[in-house]
Amino acid sequence: MRPKNRPSPHLSLADGSAPSRRPRAVLCTFAASVGLALAGCGSSGQGPAVGTGAAWRDPLSPVETRVADALSLLTLEEKVGQMAGTSLVTTRGLYLTPPNDRVGIPSFAMADGPRGVSAGTGPATAFPVGMARGATFDTALEERVGEAMGREMLARGGNVILAPTINLLYHPRWGRAQETYGEDPHALGELGAAFVRGAQRHVVATPKHFAVNNVENTRFDVSAEVAERTLRELFLPHFRRVADAGAGAFMSAYNRVNGIYCSENAHLLREILKDDWGFTGFVMSDWLLAVRSVAPSALAGLDVEMPQGDHYDEKLVEAVRSGEVPEATIDDAVRRILRAKVRFGLVDGTHPAPDPSVIAGPEHVALARQVARESLVLLRNESGALPLDASRLRSLAVVGRLADAANLGDKGSSSVNPAYPVTPLAGLRARAGSVPVAHVGTDAPSADDLRVIAEADAAVVVVGLTSAEEGEGLITIGDRRTMDLPEEQRRLVLDVARVQPRTIVVLEGGSAITMGDWGDAPAAILMAWYPGMEGGNAIADVVFGDENPSGRLPLSWPASEAQLPPFDNVSPAVAYDLFHGYRHLDRAGVAPRWPFGFGLSYTSFRLGSLRLADASVARDGMVRATVEVTNTGGRAGAEVVQLYVGFPGSAVERPVRELHGFGRVELAPGETRTVAIEFPARDLATWDEAAGGWRFEDLEYRVEVGTSSRDLPLTTALRIR
Ligand code: BGC
Repeated sequence: MRPKNRPSPHLSLADGSAPSRRPRAVLCTFAASVGLALAGCGSSGQGPAVGTGAAWRDPLSPVETRVADALSLLTLEEKVGQMAGTSLVTTRGLYLTPPNDRVGIPSFAMADGPRGVSAGTGPATAFPVGMARGATFDTALEERVGEAMGREMLARGGNVILAPTINLLYHPRWGRAQETYGEDPHALGELGAAFVRGAQRHVVATPKHFAVNNVENTRFDVSAEVAERTLRELFLPHFRRVADAGAGAFMSAYNRVNGIYCSENAHLLREILKDDWGFTGFVMSDWLLAVRSVAPSALAGLDVEMPQGDHYDEKLVEAVRSGEVPEATIDDAVRRILRAKVRFGLVDGTHPAPDPSVIAGPEHVALARQVARESLVLLRNESGALPLDASRLRSLAVVGRLADAANLGDKGSSSVNPAYPVTPLAGLRARAGSVPVAHVGTDAPSADDLRVIAEADAAVVVVGLTSAEEGEGLITIGDRRTMDLPEEQRRLVLDVARVQPRTIVVLEGGSAITMGDWGDAPAAILMAWYPGMEGGNAIADVVFGDENPSGRLPLSWPASEAQLPPFDNVSPAVAYDLFHGYRHLDRAGVAPRWPFGFGLSYTSFRLGSLRLADASVARDGMVRATVEVTNTGGRAGAEVVQLYVGFPGSAVERPVRELHGFGRVELAPGETRTVAIEFPARDLATWDEAAGGWRFEDLEYRVEVGTSSRDLPLTTALRIR
């Protein structure tokens, strides 16, 4: 049942530009990369001889023949040369690996990152952060985001994007929470795979950080202690999903797993990723300090040391000469590197860079706005406080230090230089038109300010986190110290809500923020995450009702931090079990402030007629469910239908329920549509520690469908045979 690690079928065919100048070569590269033998594509046995470089340069030869040819021409020193970056410092904003001009091997040119392209010096499209995109539950949209970033990377001269970040959010205080898509492995896998498909129409994608990377402050050394079952069932399924989607590269994590650094963790890199999952791409290290050894790293399956060869230099050559590392290990690494260079068109130049005008061009800007609109989660809306009706509003106050700030997220490796930022104030002003907007740009309003706020018809208060509260370790602030809102802002919300009944809080940040005593004070709360350069416009779209909010929480939102397992970013070793987020809350029987998957709308929906195509599915088959969704309200809107599976009577303790499918559907008022959700039955297997393999339990699996992990009106039974 080992998956074939197939490259994306879109590869080399759609780069958004006019058809390639070398259509035949493109077609053959593509056909070879997906294992197709096309007539006239070097399958006749008459192709150029291996060992001369002719096959390597021949776009009509099969990929593996080309790779073998180049490999046969390289000296040991040259092979090792391919296995490391050139410098800690970027060249034109790109981290490079060396070319080999003698054989004609091009460089990798890499840049971050998860919310937009950091390559080059100029601005780029700054998209909403990963967590915001997780809230869209919209895989088709995420594929478009991946594609746009891939296109911008290529236009900037890059060919490898250091994204997506798909680490599971074990705790909301993780400093890089914003970069990933949420707490659930299924959702992470689906969104990550969508990004990979999109990005890899242009460049190599690099899902990161493999694996169990959950804290910042101790990230360079901490050991994540996990049982094999926890690893396989919770921390790895999304990585397997992106490997199956054909990711060209993986980035290993800084931390250790069960005592062994990820960059030299043979269990993760070789046994699981390469041998078990059949990954044919290459593994690069995370950046400085990630690689700790020469032979153990190479033997474990680390193919490329980034950003420079501190270990993969003459020391690795020597390790081969002394017999410590077999040359076959080096050959395997270099084969993976060369394969990617062929597969992604680097060798043949089959992927001409698009015109730089695509960077933050109208299409990508519109996409950034659409993503931001879909990512906003309406958490609270009392007495129809939202949406505002611009035709009736006589005045609006916009309040808070963040109201006119470009608050786009962390300033670490994921930082993007936006073409421009639309702040919440700018977006609201533009949409309000002739309605007067009073700007109170402080978190400590004076008595006069409060009078202005009280006299307005409504107040939008922008509060939340910034890069001063959360970010990447060492480079920026690191993990959050608290899940609470900064104290001054807590008081601001209470003060404004006291004088203004129609107080709307727009909340920014990378993950859940506990509400303490202020959450019930405002009439409405809209979670905006770090919404990207078009964020202010998107906020105005939802506040004024041009867009019906459809974002859903990609993480559980606890009432207090005490509801969650502890967050430990000081100990040298931290143990993780199968229960975090909604899995933990369900097991503890605790009601969060808002459950995973939750989000309000300006309309209402009814779910019905849950059906399984087959109530008994073979182990290698697909579970197929359909459910009818009706928009029972008066506005068009989108709902995210979620399918969870429970394991009553399981012989081992399993989560009360796990997400195994979702579908986003847009409905006109009164409209009913059928949503189809499917997933492989193998996702329901449990890891058997004793046998060291997957096992299916003979159970009546409980399938639950609804609109959050705590609102599941539809249930049915399923068997796996
Ligand atoms: C981060 C990676 C990033 C790399 C290059 C590292 O510190 O952990 O996510 O891709 O730097 O910027």
